Amino acid sequence: MTGVTEIAPDVFRISTFIPETNIQMNQFLVRDDEPLLWHTGHRYLFEEVRQAVAGLIDIDALRWIGFSHFEPDECGSLNEWFQIAQSAEAFCSVVGARVNMTDFSSRKARGMQLDEIIRTGRYSFRFLSTPHLPHGWDAGLLFEETNRTLFCSDVLHQNGDLPALTSSDVLEGARKNLVMTQSGPMKGYIPYSLNTESQLKMLADLNPKTLAIMHGSSFDGDCAKTLHDFAEVLKETAGAF
Ligand SMILES: [Fe+2]
Ligand SMILES: [Fe+2]
Repeated sequence: MTGVTEIAPDVFRISTFIPETNIQMNQFLVRDDEPLLWHTGHRYLFEEVRQAVAGLIDIDALRWIGFSHFEPDECGSLNEWFQIAQSAEAFCSVVGARVNMTDFSSRKARGMQLDEIIRTGRYSFRFLSTPHLPHGWDAGLLFEETNRTLFCSDVLHQNGDLPALTSSDVLEGARKNLVMTQSGPMKGYIPYSLNTESQLKMLADLNPKTLAIMHGSSFDGDCAKTLHDFAEVLKETAGAF
């Protein structure tokens, strides 16, 4: 059910496919002196994700747990992780820390400003505050600066049971998902705001080498172009809601 693939040096994609909804739930573990988990997954996946992480690191060493926005697939099992990882500290945007984590999290979360850095040993992570991208006032993303991996959360979400990593194309799958989720009962998945294009340009300007995507394949082709193109697709598919 849950597979582990190294998609970039020391970046492990922990993927569980949910057939009922045709969606992959991917978490990312970065192995370093201070290991970092980027999104926890739902509470119902905690045991699967825990086992996968335990196969990669000593759970006691887990130091950082970060996520994009307040949703069960991003941080649902955060408090379960705190019960087994004594030195783990959560981080998210300042808004997320103040508005959501003060009530939800059993430990105080670190609120990260735009461009604030966390160093884990060999790697350093730049926090990118991206309100409403992919969604939520509290949204943020993360960029690992040495190997240039951008952790995208729901940006470039593709449905299906897909390969861990591709260099060919993720945009077509992302377009299909946007067509499905920008109208109908699930409309408004990713809003297109006055800031969306400049936010995606900021991400493209980082010139990522790998895009670590929460749902679907991760990508190691032309990342900057794909992020620019995603802005166009989002603009085309977004509607009033
Ligand atoms: Fe989300
Ligand atoms: Fe998600």
